[in-house]
Amino acid sequence: MPEDNSKKPIRYLSGVQPSGRLHLGNYFGAIRNHIRLQDQGECFYFIANYHSLTTVQDAEQLKKFTFMAAADYLALGLDPAKALLFRQSDVPEVAELAWLLSTVTGMGLMERAHSYKDKVARGIAPSLGLFFYPALMAADILIYRSDKVPVGQDQIQHIEMCRDMAGYFNHAFQKEVFKLPEGVLSEAPKVMGLTGGKMSKSDEASVIPIFGEPAEIKKKVMGIVTDSKGVAEPKDPDQNIIYLLYRLVAAPGEAAGMEKGFRQGGMGYGDAKKMLLSKLEEVFGGERREKRKKMDEKPDLVEDVLVAGAQRARRTAARTMEQVYEATGLPSSKIKKAVWTAGT
Ligand code: ADP
Ligand code: TRP
Repeated sequence: MPEDNSKKPIRYLSGVQPSGRLHLGNYFGAIRNHIRLQDQGECFYFIANYHSLTTVQDAEQLKKFTFMAAADYLALGLDPAKALLFRQSDVPEVAELAWLLSTVTGMGLMERAHSYKDKVARGIAPSLGLFFYPALMAADILIYRSDKVPVGQDQIQHIEMCRDMAGYFNHAFQKEVFKLPEGVLSEAPKVMGLTGGKMSKSDEASVIPIFGEPAEIKKKVMGIVTDSKGVAEPKDPDQNIIYLLYRLVAAPGEAAGMEKGFRQGGMGYGDAKKMLLSKLEEVFGGERREKRKKMDEKPDLVEDVLVAGAQRARRTAARTMEQVYEATGLPSSKIKKAVWTAGT
């Protein structure tokens, strides 16, 4: 009998790299959506530590950033009873699947990746891993049979590449092993950074960290470079980072007030910065900051969540890999287990 998919919950999957502190771009571009979606389907979220090795090559840093990313998610409202949170590398089969996908993927597809070209242009070493990155991301998505992938704009091309790779694989092995996922954008898919381009962990000066110390955030906000227009002069809010960030944290009416003040004149940059600061404190300070501090005091709680999440994620991955082994002619996990335990 054909499988009845009509009652199956939608599976959402996404990852975030532990390559620095999570910032407002990550939150409004992706994480806020991830947390909302935990009430709407099955959610698999992971800390992409394999991916981060393309830029972070310091064991202590990688562990620290991985913990921080997980603790941030929990403080921001991720509920482990509703959504899985885990470390990418705790399901190492994704690296195996990435290799298998690479065998059916043409160089042309990989060479078109914008993110690789952008990263190299920004001075990141063009390693084979960085080039291979979209294949690993495709494996992340496909191994958990994800339906939807909520991400920021910069990741959409990678999801298109994932769909292509899934199609190549199904075609090469003449079996519908993988279903094609879809990207989902948030309302703020491209948050501008303090230095003009996209806010990104790879440019520390561009970010406002979600849980930075209040003094640091104050310094960053008050230090935003503006032109020298006086308070009374009209200003264009559309390219104004203070307004663009304020619009993300303030209520629509409040944001409209600032916009009007800029357009008509009367709103000075100094006052706008203070308004932004106080909203940031309202949204991320207080209860959330307290919760985040508790995670630092009890790191074992975070570790327990990650391990429990990985155990469940791995069961799903194992089922997919069984089909992959069958389709490709690689030995099944049963045979592998016999090999691993022989002679022990
Ligand atoms: P970064 O680029 O800072 O290293 P990641 O690559 O780990 O961040 O991205 C994690 C998630 O956050 C992805 O879904 C990505 O699309 C999203 N994201 C990152 N930066 C931004 C931004 N400036 N605006 C919107 N979304 C973003
Ligand atoms: N490449 C993503 C980023 O830099 C992180 C990531 C890795 C991811 N694997 C994924 C996102 C799978 C969505 C799905 O933001």
